[in-house]
Amino acid sequence: MAEGLLEYSKSQLALRNGCDKPQIWIAYRGYIYDVGESRLWKNGMHYEHWAGQDLTEELQDAPHSETVFLKFQIIGKLKDK
Ligand code: HEM
Repeated sequence: MAEGLLEYSKSQLALRNGCDKPQIWIAYRGYIYDVGESRLWKNGMHYEHWAGQDLTEELQDAPHSETVFLKFQIIGKLKDK
């Protein structure tokens, strides 16, 4: 699954917050998901969380598990630096 995926930096991801660029992306456990189709991530905002960043730690505060990501396409990997 990870093979052949494009890598993006944190600053590239930050532009995909639903404001600066039209795309709405979030990173979770090293992978970047495109949630642009989700009504629940409209304008990049989801229950006080903003898209365009790594939200791995924040998932602990969510009332749901990581299975919410299953229906979304992985569009890249987050670069370590
Ligand atoms: C206080 C924090 C949060 C609340 C109250 C919240 C609430 C919800 C609710 C009610 C849903 C729809 C029902 C469900 O699938 O269970 C949902 C879906 C989702 N959540 Fe959260 N969430 C929170 C944090 C997060 C975080 C931190 C992430 C990312 C790491 C996240 C990612 C998602 C995704 C990808 C979906 C699926 C959206 C869809 O199916 O269109 N959520 N969330």
